[in-house]
Amino acid sequence: MRVICRNVSVSFVAGERTVEALRDVSLDVRSGEFLSVVGPSGCGKTTLLRTLADLLPPQSGQVEKQVGPGSRSAQALLVFQENNLFPWMTVLQNAAFGLEMQGVGRGERESRAHALLARLGLSGWEHAYPPHLSVGMRQRVAVIRSFLSDPGLLLMDEPFAALDALTRELVHQELLDLWEQNHKTVIFVTHDIEEAILLSDRILLMSASPGSIVAEFEIGLARPRTTATALSDEVQLLKRRIHAELGLRPREVTHAS
Ligand SMILES: Nc1ncnc2c1ncn2[C@@H]1O[C@H](COP(=O)(O)OP(=O)(O)OP(=O)(O)O)[C@@H](O)[C@H]1O
Ligand SMILES: [Mg+2]
Repeated sequence: MRVICRNVSVSFVAGERTVEALRDVSLDVRSGEFLSVVGPSGCGKTTLLRTLADLLPPQSGQVEKQVGPGSRSAQALLVFQENNLFPWMTVLQNAAFGLEMQGVGRGERESRAHALLARLGLSGWEHAYPPHLSVGMRQRVAVIRSFLSDPGLLLMDEPFAALDALTRELVHQELLDLWEQNHKTVIFVTHDIEEAILLSDRILLMSASPGSIVAEFEIGLARPRTTATALSDEVQLLKRRIHAELGLRPREVTHAS
């Protein structure tokens, strides 16, 4: 699915104040592109995703979604900052929920969900309920559920912020593997610049007050990307360029993420 935003502005009225969360945001996301959005807290990243998911109507501008021949679904699926699993369903039922909605039979959906749960280190937890899982475990289940739902557009709002560094590396690899298999259009919000570099084809930088896009970086790193990619000089150089654009020194960014 190709996503085009033309001069989108969104404001919120909070008491006497009007907060201009997005001003004149334009973007064109190619079908099958992995795009990340990076920017300081409060700059409008979540607002942008909610607008793209049609959960918020823009005050002005338009959002257009073009379903191409490669994408079966016109549906956009939003994975939130904090996961939203169904607490009354088991891990396995949650993971397979999207498949169930597509009418996939129980045997197939459970075997596909089982396979991904195992790859993300959740074997043995299939019959547990979300409240008994750590935040990071729940977020991994939410990512599996979103991929198995097979939406035309996947909008991810800091989905890995709660994961420890090692789990995050594992999940990056799995997300990249899944994405290599079907090249879904993904718009991924993160505070973590290295994460954005490793995953994306392109990174947009946003600034606050009002939220707008201030810079864009094409990430031409070869794919498939591996853990070795993270250590390459090319990644370090890109990180420095993006830090400089954000006006931050690397250490400050580490604290903020
Ligand atoms: N429902 C709302 N009502 C009023 N103001 C809102 C609402 N949602 C967001 N805002 C305001 O819009 C601005 C952008 O918020 P948003 O949540 O999009 O930022 P963000 O970039 O996602 O921040 P973070 O990185 O902390 O998640 C902020 O000033 C916020 O206070
Ligand atoms: Mg947010």
